Amino acid sequence: MKETLRYLAGLAGPSGYGSNSTAEQVTEDFSCMVPPHLTAIITGATSGIGAETARVLAKKGVRIVIPARDLRRAAELKEEIQKESPQAEIVLLEVDLSSLTSVKRFCTEFLSLGLSLNILINNAGIFSQNLEFSEDKIEMTYATNYLGHFLLTEMLLEKMVETAAKTGIQGRIINVTSVIHSWVKRDSFRFKQMLNPKNYNGTRAYAQSKLANILHVKEMARQLQARKARVTINAVHPGIVKTGIIRAHKGFITDSIYFVASKFLKSSSQGASTTCYVALCPQLEGVTGKYFADCNESSCSSLANDESEAQKLFMQTRAVIYKRLGQPAA
Ligand SMILES: NC(=O)c1ccc[n+]([C@@H]2O[C@H](COP(=O)([O-])OP(=O)(O)OC[C@H]3O[C@@H](n4cnc5c(N)ncnc54)[C@H](OP(=O)(O)O)[C@@H]3O)[C@@H](O)[C@H]2O)c1
Repeated sequence: MKETLRYLAGLAGPSGYGSNSTAEQVTEDFSCMVPPHLTAIITGATSGIGAETARVLAKKGVRIVIPARDLRRAAELKEEIQKESPQAEIVLLEVDLSSLTSVKRFCTEFLSLGLSLNILINNAGIFSQNLEFSEDKIEMTYATNYLGHFLLTEMLLEKMVETAAKTGIQGRIINVTSVIHSWVKRDSFRFKQMLNPKNYNGTRAYAQSKLANILHVKEMARQLQARKARVTINAVHPGIVKTGIIRAHKGFITDSIYFVASKFLKSSSQGASTTCYVALCPQLEGVTGKYFADCNESSCSSLANDESEAQKLFMQTRAVIYKRLGQPAA
């Protein structure tokens, strides 16, 4: 209740920022403390929250790598960003996050460039009302939002650990999730069902994928701490923003709800603020395994906090991914 009121009033939380803060504002305040020569990979940067995150981080001098399935759209974004920030270095590479083979190809291509990697923002996402399957025969929302990012993180992790050890700058991984993860009930969170659901419900599939994004954060944070790697991983709820993910759901009822709710929706810049805050804020050095909303640490559901659920999901996910790729889990 207190958090809802704070959201509606746009009041700042303990960090000094709140639901009204924009990505430009939060990064402006600590721009002189942003280390030079950072490299960030941002998925889903061709539109919405990801595009704004890319624009603002590029403005702060961060080299941006955009993995995109639509390279034409990515090239347009690159041009837009460089109009505003002519020095911005932006690398475009192709990926379809719903395909494990494509993610693997992207990672191999990125690693062959010999670039360092400080920040990985797992931001891309879909929300589909219809049941569809990826080329790996996995439900499309789960494949895109969760499995693709899981493999991406796994394949890029050693590069991040190595970069952090070489530069002394802590690596940061961010999983963009949603408050909707808290709608998932424990008894409906079944791995096999998520891969191949019997009674598909788009909202449930989306919420489950977003819960999986947080459980991924919890287990990865534990593993990174255990090996004393200088890489953190946190989850971010961006707020409700009218982007492509919402616009795809047309219809009188949806349109009416958004018309009424429009006063409470965030702009893309407000939606990108928490990601930018967690990616760059110096005060978050060493903070890992947490959930952020409105640029402040917040609480996620008890299921999302369940360590044994996180560990179980991690093992099941690895097994499925490597089986589909036809290679033994390393
Ligand atoms: N908007 C909200 O209210 C809201 C609320 C809570 C959480 N979120 C989360 O915020 C994140 C960003 O969403 P958004 O609102 O900015 O949505 P958006 O405008 O629809 O952007 C989604 C991005 O993901 C990319 N993408 C989708 N499928 C892909 C695939 N198979 N391979 C590669 N890229 C793919 C899209 O690329 P294309 O250009 O090729 O389509 C696009 O760049 C998502 O994780 C979403 O779940 C959003």
